[in-house]
Amino acid sequence: MTDIISVIAPINMAVIKYWGKRDEKLIIPLNDSVSGTLDPKVMCAKTSVCARSAFEEDELWLNGIKESITSERLQNCLKKIRELAIEQKSVDEEFLKFKVHICSENNFPTAAGLASSAAGYACLVTALATLYKVKTDISALARIGSGSACRSVYGGFVRWYAGSNPDGSDSIAKPVVDSSHWPDMRVLVLVIADTKKHTSSTKGMKTTVETSELMKHRIQVSVPSRIEKICEAIVKKDFPTFAELTMKDSNEFHAVCLSAFPPCIYLTNTSLKIIEMVHYYNNICGTIKVAYTFDAGPNACLYLLEEEVPKMLSVIKYFFPFSSEDFIKGLKAPPIKEFPIESHIYKSATEKDLINYIIYTKVGEGPIVLKDGPHLLNEHGKPHEK
Ligand code: DP6
Repeated sequence: MTDIISVIAPINMAVIKYWGKRDEKLIIPLNDSVSGTLDPKVMCAKTSVCARSAFEEDELWLNGIKESITSERLQNCLKKIRELAIEQKSVDEEFLKFKVHICSENNFPTAAGLASSAAGYACLVTALATLYKVKTDISALARIGSGSACRSVYGGFVRWYAGSNPDGSDSIAKPVVDSSHWPDMRVLVLVIADTKKHTSSTKGMKTTVETSELMKHRIQVSVPSRIEKICEAIVKKDFPTFAELTMKDSNEFHAVCLSAFPPCIYLTNTSLKIIEMVHYYNNICGTIKVAYTFDAGPNACLYLLEEEVPKMLSVIKYFFPFSSEDFIKGLKAPPIKEFPIESHIYKSATEKDLINYIIYTKVGEGPIVLKDGPHLLNEHGKPHEK
């Protein structure tokens, strides 16, 4: 038995994007959003927490490096959980005075530009809420760390309701369906070679809200018209409708970003080529078989059903030739199935290594509390020596 709590939590990939806040401090969004939770056994954040009388101060280690714990968002999460513990008398007063040690890491490179803060905060608040035995809506806690994190506290497909209360109390996430609902839903994350630093989501959405005319249309017209339809498509497992709405929302989101001033440009030439590739494939198939979506960066996330994966990998290999065995990470990839390409119209990329690697994953479960570890903190409550 140990007093250390460890949790793994997933990243999520939005199909209707959250972009813009009505309250910056409380992190309350302007619109509802929907995402798929990606299997934490493939990509996850892991966090261990522990509170002891012997600790002199709250301490934090991130990906092996000691970090300052003063970040406002992190402090807000800690404060809120300790307040709830006092209110609910869930732990004794002595315990509440103890300092806490937090150690967190991602099993995928942070530099890959994937949604690490969503997994990180979902993981942190789940671990702290377990440590302090508080009963509350975990999504509301995760939201105060990073907006999109609130959707990572559930598996399957998740909807974050913008809510209307000024204090954000109804701005919470709820599952649309759980991870067993659409078992053959797969995801290919195409991690693009890109060294450019992009405007952070937090800053990009603020500029967009302040300057974009198109944003009004997105918030008032497009998103409300898509949100119910996509939830219904998910419930009915209607892939073409789901995929069309996903791609349209991604495209509109990036158009809105480009209409900010100064513009927020997240897609690169490689991202655009991926868009072209997906439309090409869908066109040949005569129906929509694959959907792309891009967050605030150039990496593509493709949603598709399992039966399409062998053919899609062949198409990706044609457009972006790769040879190395370990190019496809994550779940065991099926053998590639040749798919004919009109090579007189569509040319393979001649530049090499436009895509660094592919992560093959699926829609999966929410955070998992690891009762028996392994923990990231040793018996002294410090990170293990590497
Ligand atoms: C493009 O959740 O990272 O990924 O709330 O300021 O922390 P903050 O922003 P963040 O924004 C994510 C934006 C997005 C779309 C989405 O995940 O819905």
